[in-house]
Amino acid sequence: MACHKVAAAPFQLLSLVSFLLFLNPCSSIFLEATTIFANSNTVNDERSNVACIEEERKALLEFKQGLQDPLPALHSWVGKDCCNWHGIVCNNQTGNIIELRLLDTQISGTLSMSIGSLSDLETLILFNNSFSGPLPTSIENLSHLRTMNLSRNSISGPLPTSIGNLSNLQNLDLSRNSMSGPLPTSIGSLSNLQTLDLSRNSISGPLPTSIGSLSNLQTLDLYSNSISGPLPTSIGSLSNLQTLDLSSNSISGPLPTSIGSLSNLQTLDLSSNSISCPLPTSIGNLSNLQALYLSSNSISGPLPTWIGSLSNLQNLELADNSKMNGTIPESIGQLRELEYLYLYGCSWEGFISENHFRTLADWIRFIYPARHPTLWFSTSVMTGFLSSILRIFISRIVN
Ligand SMILES: *[C@@H]1O[C@H](CO)[C@@H](O)[C@H](O)[C@H]1NC(C)=O
Ligand SMILES: *[C@@H]1O[C@H](CO)[C@@H](O)[C@H](O)[C@H]1NC(C)=O
Ligand SMILES: *[C@@H]1O[C@H](CO)[C@@H](O)[C@H](O)[C@H]1NC(C)=O
Ligand SMILES: *[C@@H]1O[C@H](CO)[C@@H](O)[C@H](O)[C@H]1NC(C)=O
Ligand SMILES: *[C@@H]1O[C@H](CO)[C@@H](O)[C@H](O)[C@H]1NC(C)=O
Ligand SMILES: *[C@@H]1O[C@H](CO)[C@@H](O)[C@H](O)[C@H]1NC(C)=O
Ligand SMILES: *[C@@H]1O[C@H](CO)[C@@H](O)[C@H](O)[C@H]1NC(C)=O
Repeated sequence: MACHKVAAAPFQLLSLVSFLLFLNPCSSIFLEATTIFANSNTVNDERSNVACIEEERKALLEFKQGLQDPLPALHSWVGKDCCNWHGIVCNNQTGNIIELRLLDTQISGTLSMSIGSLSDLETLILFNNSFSGPLPTSIENLSHLRTMNLSRNSISGPLPTSIGNLSNLQNLDLSRNSMSGPLPTSIGSLSNLQTLDLSRNSISGPLPTSIGSLSNLQTLDLYSNSISGPLPTSIGSLSNLQTLDLSSNSISGPLPTSIGSLSNLQTLDLSSNSISCPLPTSIGNLSNLQALYLSSNSISGPLPTWIGSLSNLQNLELADNSKMNGTIPESIGQLRELEYLYLYGCSWEGFISENHFRTLADWIRFIYPARHPTLWFSTSVMTGFLSSILRIFISRIVN
């Protein structure tokens, strides 16, 4: 692919029609894993006295059926009073179940379709269990859901298209599962989403253009998947994004110029991909950036002078881009907050002089100009080193 042109698929901003529908936010009662064996009276001292809705009680029993529950964590799931079962919170006016929260329970088995009957659910947390099988498509019914956290299970299969129906979702955490297949286009409908964490799965295919519609997104973490293709231009529409972690994927092509529009970005981690071409100048506009990780790609060309305008940068890692060449610009010395600078495995030439680090020498902790351990410097060594020798030769160090 040519370096100047990013293939720009047409994209459309879905209109931001978002209103929170929850009627009666109930005080959340946190049932901790450590209280699994406790009587529910001690867990929930404002013991719920609303009646459980029979249809939802049946759905919970169906959910329980076929699960292996070695502790058991669900020993309280008997009788009529499902609002007082372990992990369940009901709306104290209507009796509808609004929260299902089971953490660290060792429960295994598949997620029942019956979960779709809990249509008032606002919080679904099944963190750190052994649930397996696919996400049931019946989740499309959970239109009040604000938090879905199924991190640390063994859930497999693709993210279902019906995820797009969860229009009130704010936090979606499916990290550390075994999910595969591409991200569905419908994900762009989640206009209230603030956190999307699908890290450590096997998700493949390109990032859908619709991702740019997630205008409230603050954290996008897709670390360690198999995502391929170029970053869509639409990524630049995520104007609230603070953390973008797409490291350890197979993203290729040049970075889109639009990346410079992410004006709230603090962490940009694209290391260990196949990104090519010179860096777009627009990255110099990311004035809130604190960490820029671009190591282990195929980026070419120089480290541009604009790097000095990223005045909040603390970590800069460009190591192992063997086609990056030219001299290190003296503007790097303007990065007064810099703590880590990894530049090994590139094709730099010339010298690093005192000018590069005139303002920097007191702050910098490590410079890794090469892999060779004898070329790693700590602050005290650096300062002494600079005052006596003034130049660090890093010519064409590759490996
Ligand atoms: C019901 O929940 C609301 C919201 O959390 C709370 O303010 C209210 O005190 C609760 N009412 C009863 C009777 O527990
Ligand atoms: C997950 O749960 C197990 C108990 O089932 C516990 O030993 C482990 O520390 C938990 N891990 C995390 C990350 O919370
Ligand atoms: C969705 O919810 C409706 C009622 O709110 C219920 O009748 C239907 O069975 C649910 N669908 C699934 C798949 O659970
Ligand atoms: C989910 O969204 C699709 C597409 O917008 C729609 O056809 C379907 O009716 C929705 N399902 C529910 C339960 O709202
Ligand atoms: C999911 O739950 C775990 C355990 O409480 C928590 O550490 C993690 O931050 C949650 N994920 C999100 C996105 O809130
Ligand atoms: C970067 O800033 C310059 C000058 O303010 C502006 O002209 C340019 O459009 C900006 N680029 C992006 C991608 O925001
Ligand atoms: C950097 O590498 C490119 C491609 O090999 C080459 O055209 C360019 O002249 C090099 N620049 C410097 C400063 O060595």
